[in-house]
Amino acid sequence: MGKLRVGFIGTGKRKEKRDALGYAMAYDHGAAYQALDYVEMVACADIVEENARAFADHFGIPKVYTDYHEMLEKEKLDVVSICTWMHLHEPMVIDCCKAGVRAVYCEKPMANTWGGARRMAEAAKKAGVQLTFNHQRRYGVAWTTAKKLLDEGAIGQLTRLESEAPNIYEFGTHSIDMLSFFNNETPAKWVIAQIDYREEKLVFGGHTENQNLVLVEYENGVFGFLANGAGGARPVGCFTRLIGTDGVIEVYPVGGPALRYRPAGSKEWIVPELPPEVNMITEAISDALTCLREGRKCQLDVSNALIGTEIIFGAYESSRRRGRVDFPLDIDDNPLEAMVASGDLKPAKPA
Ligand SMILES: NC(=O)c1ccc[n+]([C@@H]2O[C@H](COP(=O)([O-])OP(=O)(O)OC[C@H]3O[C@@H](n4cnc5c(N)ncnc54)[C@H](O)[C@@H]3O)[C@@H](O)[C@H]2O)c1
Repeated sequence: MGKLRVGFIGTGKRKEKRDALGYAMAYDHGAAYQALDYVEMVACADIVEENARAFADHFGIPKVYTDYHEMLEKEKLDVVSICTWMHLHEPMVIDCCKAGVRAVYCEKPMANTWGGARRMAEAAKKAGVQLTFNHQRRYGVAWTTAKKLLDEGAIGQLTRLESEAPNIYEFGTHSIDMLSFFNNETPAKWVIAQIDYREEKLVFGGHTENQNLVLVEYENGVFGFLANGAGGARPVGCFTRLIGTDGVIEVYPVGGPALRYRPAGSKEWIVPELPPEVNMITEAISDALTCLREGRKCQLDVSNALIGTEIIFGAYESSRRRGRVDFPLDIDDNPLEAMVASGDLKPAKPA
C-alpha cells in the first residue's frame, strides 16, 4: 500500500502567543502526520501565500497553493486537514468530499450553523468519506482513565454529567463532546438553556456568549449540565464531573489533580496514578488514520460530533425560543448569530 497523500487547507501563521485571532492549529496537525511513517505531506493551501510557504518550509512540503480548489484538483489527495475558522468548514469539507478524497480531518467546532453541520455529514456519507473532527480531549490520559473507572463501575451507574466552558459553541464543543464520550455517544432528547451576551466577544470570527446555563437529557436518562459564572467564575468547579449512583469522578477540578474520584460514603478523594501524558492531537490524528486504514469507525466521527453539535445549536435555540427544545433540532441557522443580527441581542463593543 502506498503512502497516504495529505494536504492542508488553512496553515495559519505561527505566533509566539496564540489567541482567538490565530492558533495556527495546522502546525499541530502537521506534527501529528509527521510522526506517521505511512503518510506523505504533499501540499498545503492558504489564501495568504506567506503563511503557506512558511508552513511548507517548516514541514518540508513540496507544493504550495493559494487556492485550495486548485490543490484538490491537482494533488489527488487521500487526506485533507482543514484548519480554517469555523464559517469556512462547511464549504471546504463539501468541496473535499466532491474532490474524491478518502478522509477529511477538520478542526472544531463542526460548522457555524446547524444546517451546515448536517450538510457536511450528508456530503461525507454520500461520498463515502471518513469525516472526523479534532475533539482531541478524548485521547488525554485523565479522560481515558476516568472513562475506564466509569466502565469498571467505580461510581456505579452514571446519572449526571457536569461541565463548564466560557462559551457553548467554540470552546464548549470540547466540553459537550466529552459528555458524549462518557455517555457512550448517546443522543440527547432535549435541551433547555439560557445565555447572557452583554459584551461582544468574537472568537475565530464567531459570536460567543459571556455566560451560559444548559441542561440536557440524553436518551438513556442521563442528564448533562453546563454552566459558567459572570466574569469567568467557575461554578461547576471542574472540567467534567461524572456523578453516579455510587460516587463521583472529577476530571481537572479547580485547584485539584488532573483526576480524582470518591466512592459513595467515602470522605476522601482517591487520586489514581495516570499513565504518561500524551500529545492529544497526535493521538487523535493517528487514531483517525488507523481507523481509515482498517475500515473502522473512529470515535471522532461526524456521527458522534453531530450529537454535541445538536446540543450546541439547540441550547442557543432554547434561548431564542425561551423554552425547552425537543430533538431532532429543526432549525438551519445559528440562533446566536441570528439574535445578534436581528438586534434581539445587543452586545456592547468592548472598550
Ligand atoms: N482543537 C483545539 O484545541 C483548537 C484550538 C484552537 C483553535 N481551534 C480551531 O481551529 C480552527 C482554526 O483556527 P486557527 O486559530 O488555527 O486559525 P488561524 O487563523 O491560525 O489560521 C487560519 C488560516 O486559514 C487561512 N484561510 C482563510 N481563508 C482561507 C481560504 N479560503 N483558503 C485557504 N486558507 C484560508 C488564513 O489565511 C489563516 O492562515 C478554528 O475552527 C478554531 O476553532 C481548535
